[in-house]
This record gives sequence, C-alpha cells and structure tokens, in this order.
Amino acid sequence: MLWCDGPNATAQRNIRLADRTTFGIGGPADFLVEPSDESSFAQAHAAAVRRGLPIHILGGGSNVLVADEGIDGVVLSMRRLDDNTPSVNNAVIRVRAGTPLARVIHWTVRLGLAGLESLAGIPGSVGGAVRMNAGAGENAIGDRVAALWCSDGGGGLFRRDGEAVVWGYRRTDIAHPIVAVELALQPDDPEAVRSRVRGTISAKCAAQPVDSRSAGCFFKNPPGDSAGRLIDGAGLKGRRAGDACVSPKHANFIINDGDANAGDVMALCDVVQRRVAQVFNVVLEHEVCCWPMAPA
Ligand code: EPU
Repeated sequence: MLWCDGPNATAQRNIRLADRTTFGIGGPADFLVEPSDESSFAQAHAAAVRRGLPIHILGGGSNVLVADEGIDGVVLSMRRLDDNTPSVNNAVIRVRAGTPLARVIHWTVRLGLAGLESLAGIPGSVGGAVRMNAGAGENAIGDRVAALWCSDGGGGLFRRDGEAVVWGYRRTDIAHPIVAVELALQPDDPEAVRSRVRGTISAKCAAQPVDSRSAGCFFKNPPGDSAGRLIDGAGLKGRRAGDACVSPKHANFIINDGDANAGDVMALCDVVQRRVAQVFNVVLEHEVCCWPMAPA
C-alpha cells in the first residue's frame, strides 16, 4: 500500500507518461495517482502537499510535453474523475474535470445546448480546457464557465465563481486543481447545434493534422498575428529534429512522426523560435506546458 492509495484512488510507481499524452512522449512519474471521486482527489492532493512533493495535474495529456527523464514527485491524473452522463439544470451542465471535452460537446448536441460548438475538435479534458482557457479564434471556454470547484490542498474543496477568474489568452489565474466545473449554455435546436459542431470539426480536419500525434498548437499566437503563418513564412514546414517534425499541414503543430522524444521536440522548438525571431523579429512563446515545471 502506498501513502497515496485510498478506497477510490489508485496509486502506481514509475509509470511511463508517454502512454498518457497525445504526443506519445514522456518519461516516468515517480507516483501516478488516479482518484475517481472529488473527495478522494482532495485527500490524495492533501497527502502530496503534506509530503512536500512536487505536484503536477494531468488532464487529457493533450497540451503537455513531458521530459524524457520523467517527473519527480506526484502526478495527479484526472482520467478517472469523469462523468458518463450529463447532469443538467436549466441549461447549466455540471461536469467533473476529467471528463473529455468531446464527450461534453456530444451531450450538448443531444440536449440542444448552444455555446461550446466552436470548441469542437479540441482534445483533452474539461478541467484542462478550463485551466488553460482553451479556445478557437475569438471564443474560449472561460466565456461559459459559471463556477468551478477546486481542491484546496488541505483535504477540502472550494467553489469559485467563473466571473472571479481572470481569463486570458490561453491562460487563467487558476492555481488550485479543478475537480468540477459548471458550464452555462443556451437552449437551442439540437440540429442547429449539431450542424455548427460539424462545421467546426470539418474546418479543423481540413486545416490541422488531427490524425498525427501532437499537443495541438505548440506556440501562442503573438498579438494580432498567427504563429502558424509566421513559422510557415519562415520556410519551416516539414523541418525535422529526429522524429519531431513541423507539420506540413499546419506549421504551428509539432508532430511526433515516429519515435520522437522530448529532446527532439525541444531542439526543433529552438530552431523554430530562432528562425522566426530572425525573419520576423517576433519571439514565439510556448503554448504547450513543458514538464517538469514549477509546482502548481
Ligand atoms: N497559416 C499559414 N500557414 C500555416 C498555418 C496557418 O499561413 O501553416 C495562416 C492561415 O492561412 C490563416 C492564419 O495563419 O490565415 C491563421 O491560421 P488558423 O486559422 O489555422 O488559426 P491559428 O491562429 O493558427 C488558432 C488556434 C487553434 C485553433 C484555430 C482554429 C492558437 C495558438 N491556435 O490557430 O488552436 O484550433 O485557431 O480557430 O490560438 C490549440 O490551441 O492547440 C489550437 C490548435
């Protein structure tokens, strides 16, 4: 029995994170804990805090690059903290953080609830999407968040109004792990919602390498511009470092085109940043979270 085992939390040692990221890259976590309810999550989180361990929160693994050496401390995974059926009240959906965003969008089509259509095709969990204020174009998930529940690190949970959160471009001021969120949507004709979701997904499939292993857009768009346009304009489509490759389809995607490791991705990222700085005098910032990082 490990210190973080519990009735509704499984804990494992030295688990390869490559299997839990969409990049398919990453060394082992010292401890990987997967709670399946909110209070077990809060208990496991508190146990890790008491031990003074570095803590990383893993949602759907779709926006992280994990180092080849792996992660010291504990990775708290949201994978089992999910919902299989919607809990809806007056067009407000309450959903646990580990639920895939795609599942929630599927519910909204069935239920005829508008508001998330532009987020269709974004991989990952609802909690991860909210933490990063995921979005497409002008729309981001923060616009729909009525409330969130977070783990306080002492074994408890607290509620925060969506309006009290600072929602930036692919960033928020949410410092505590999110265990559940409430999304406020608008009733609409299910067929209209379905058709908008389909439109978003077809546009994404046409423009982005959705079948390749990646972490989505690698760099943030600089104000008023597009990282994809700049990387493309710098002639970097198809550029490789080992098996990491700048997607020939959309230049802001770095894809794992074989057996890339984190070192390959970072080397390629460096080439891209230098070249874009040289050609356009713009410094590109990562959108993808690189682990290890400072504990949350
Ligand atoms: N462009 C190029 N070459 C490329 C890619 C894009 O010239 O290789 C040009 C396009 O032709 C277009 C402009 O750049 O004129 C913008 O491209 P796009 O419409 O693909 O949007 P984006 O700004 O690159 C953003 C988000 C995506 C989101 C799309 C769709 C960021 C960093 N990216 O991409 O989000 O799916 O809009 O709305 O905000 C993500 O966050 O992981 C992500 C992929």
